[in-house]
Amino acid sequence: MGHTEWAYGLAKDLLETTLPRRWAHTQGVAEQGERLASILGADSDLLIAACLLHDIGYAPDLVNTGMHQLDGARYLRDVAKADERLCRLVAYHSCADNEARQRDLLDVLVKEFDQERADLARALTYCDMTTGPDGRHLDVLDRLAEIHSRYGPEHVVSRSITDATPCIVSSVRSVEAALADVGKADAG
Ligand SMILES: [Fe+2]
Repeated sequence: MGHTEWAYGLAKDLLETTLPRRWAHTQGVAEQGERLASILGADSDLLIAACLLHDIGYAPDLVNTGMHQLDGARYLRDVAKADERLCRLVAYHSCADNEARQRDLLDVLVKEFDQERADLARALTYCDMTTGPDGRHLDVLDRLAEIHSRYGPEHVVSRSITDATPCIVSSVRSVEAALADVGKADAG
């Protein structure tokens, strides 16, 4: 069984009933992951699995620190015994080091998890940050605005997203450029 099939079952079990909107978002993020097969090749399976698992840390039973990236990655490592690369991608998804800093958890995050390859981390950030809470796809700037309006200016997530904006936007734009290059090569 590939990573994707396993990840789909696990994410569905954790999110579908308790957090249906988060599950809709997750499925939209995974659709974006499927679109990146042309630039990721053999790593596509890993990336799609990470898309499916990136938000499991929101599942009520998994909440511990309140930082969903860290809570999800710990569950994958300690309970699900997931591939180390999946744990790393989830731990740092969408430039999560910024939220870790805001929550005073950066030392913990860095001590427990290494970073995964930068192109894969950017790919996951692209998928998450071009998918809205209902699973629909949108531009990264609209996605950032949506997060700010959902949480409000004082929330730790909004402050984290402000700090993470350069990292998020550059990740998304670099993946868009890679997709455009592949599109040109296909057309030419
Ligand atoms: Fe997400």
